[in-house]
Amino acid sequence: MTHAARLASSVTEDQLERVLRLLLPASGVRFQDYKTPTIVRRLSRRMALLRITDTEAYITHLERTPDEVGNLHDDLLIRVTRFFREPDAFAALARAVLPHLEIRPDIPVRAWVAGCATGEEVYSLAILLREALEDRRAEVRVQIFGTDVSDSAVEYARRGVYPASIAADVSLERLRRFFTKADGGYRVTRSLRDMCIFVRQDLTRDPPFSRLDLICCRNVLIFVDSPLQRKLLSVFHYALKRQGLLMLGHVESIGQNSELFSFMDKKHRIFRKKPGALPRAAYRDVTSPLRAARATSAGQAHARVILNEANRIVLERYAPPSVLVDQDFHVVQFNGETGLYLGPSPGEPSFNVLKLAREGLLHGLRTALQTARSTRKATRRRRLRVRGGNDWHEVDLEIIPIVRQNQPFYLVLFEKPRPAVRKKTEAKQPVRGAGTPTGRLARLEEELASTREYLQSTIQEIEAANEELQAANEEILSTNEELQRTNEELDSVKEELQSTNEELNTVNDELVARNEELARVNADLMTLAVSVQTAIVIVSRDLRIRRFTPMAETAFNLIPSDIGRTFSQISPNIVSPDLPSMIATVIDTASTIERTVQDSEGKSRLLRIRPCKGADSAIEGAVIALCEDGRL
Ligand SMILES: C[S@@+](CC[C@H](N)C(=O)[O-])C[C@H]1O[C@@H](n2cnc3c(N)ncnc32)[C@H](O)[C@@H]1O
Repeated sequence: MTHAARLASSVTEDQLERVLRLLLPASGVRFQDYKTPTIVRRLSRRMALLRITDTEAYITHLERTPDEVGNLHDDLLIRVTRFFREPDAFAALARAVLPHLEIRPDIPVRAWVAGCATGEEVYSLAILLREALEDRRAEVRVQIFGTDVSDSAVEYARRGVYPASIAADVSLERLRRFFTKADGGYRVTRSLRDMCIFVRQDLTRDPPFSRLDLICCRNVLIFVDSPLQRKLLSVFHYALKRQGLLMLGHVESIGQNSELFSFMDKKHRIFRKKPGALPRAAYRDVTSPLRAARATSAGQAHARVILNEANRIVLERYAPPSVLVDQDFHVVQFNGETGLYLGPSPGEPSFNVLKLAREGLLHGLRTALQTARSTRKATRRRRLRVRGGNDWHEVDLEIIPIVRQNQPFYLVLFEKPRPAVRKKTEAKQPVRGAGTPTGRLARLEEELASTREYLQSTIQEIEAANEELQAANEEILSTNEELQRTNEELDSVKEELQSTNEELNTVNDELVARNEELARVNADLMTLAVSVQTAIVIVSRDLRIRRFTPMAETAFNLIPSDIGRTFSQISPNIVSPDLPSMIATVIDTASTIERTVQDSEGKSRLLRIRPCKGADSAIEGAVIALCEDGRL
């Protein structure tokens, strides 16, 4: 079990909530809407760095240390990024998308990179746009908004100075064209920088930009839970122009929001806004789809035109029960008493008219809608049998397409079939035997009725089978979504590992630099020791020999293997029986002792013992120096 997994099982919901509440004032980000496993892993990382094993102790530390709140907050916003990350996706964007941008000299091309981290993605996009527009020889203004919730990331992006290592991701030609050398790295050129505007913005709370041609929100959705993913996709849908494009990260998808976007390049996660989706889905949270349309003034006008037209048709037909549906068959308005034909079905609430269809109606309704959609012509189905409560009724169905601004809507009318008018003569005729023409007619009618019943039951069986297939399909879809979530989870773990890796690389670089420095200092010391004409011995606090100069070999009677032995184990060539105790006194009292001693040849020498201090000024041992009297 990993440390994070152990921690995940030991962090209670209450503890997690307390941690997230502490984080809220620091930046206003509601991490409650982010994926719990990522949060727990980042928490575990912080605890491991601080060597805290108990979650309660960490929470207390957080409460008392505002800096740690900032550190945890920064850790949660995983800021991994690079220039042209996933180069294939950028190539696809340049190839298939940018050439189709609507270019008008009076209106700038507007793009938004949401969650841009330190800006590499923004400048990559700026480079692509510059190259694409240059090919079209167009005089176009370009505005790229780069936003992130991390202040320091935005600040970094604004500076536009990157380390030399970006050469791994940016071609030599682009480096030459779009960067100048600066501070041992590269600075983005003025003209590229001027295309980009960096702003701190919290995607979950702050208003979005609008009238955008392109939104890139890559590797951000993977960190947040499904409800926030849905909300953000609605926001992006709102912020894009008609036909605007959305680009997500390679494992991210629009999930169940297919009414908002359609795939433009499935492999590289490039989507096109569905313009027809406005009435239903400007904001998914809104319960009535028309209310959503009325959320914008353009939507209001558009919705009014469609509704007026639908109402006119309904009135012309003496107001039968009807519904107006959009191109995905979602109901945008109910008219009259439709309860006999439509009703909610068990499961997740849905406005899809096919899901609302009562028993017996589904098949006829679906084929009629599909015919109306493909032919764009009014389509009829007569005498469909539909079950309302315990009874079966007959209904005539008419689908009338209403197309405005190239957006198709369909008006579905439910009408009671007129009773078949029997001819007077027929009514008055007595019932004849089976052999007579009238009898044969009656028999044929009976056969027809039973065949119709048989057909009806077969249709119902097919419908039931269809529904089962649909359910199986949804199960597969949800399994798919789970796999997608696992994939996202794996990707976010990868991102975290990458960010840890980057930190380790930095630490490693520092260690290598320090090692080189140490080697240099060591070499200098060795040169000094060899060139110094004084016998010097350095001992540790426990009087073990650590180092000595070549002159000390004769004076103190030392050989290289004496390093590590205690001073009392050697017999120096000087007369000073109390030398070990003098060294101990120097270490204990941090004082210096000087004494004149005789060497073995009877010459007078000056012995000086000084305390030896470490980096924190603590006494780590002593330096014993011996030289000819008067030379020290
Ligand atoms: C993994 S980075 C992705 C950077 C870049 N889009 C890429 O794919 O290379 C995720 C970024 O999303 C930002 N982010 C997370 N939550 C955010 C929020 N609520 N609003 C804005 N940015 C957010 C983080 O600060 C981080 O810089």
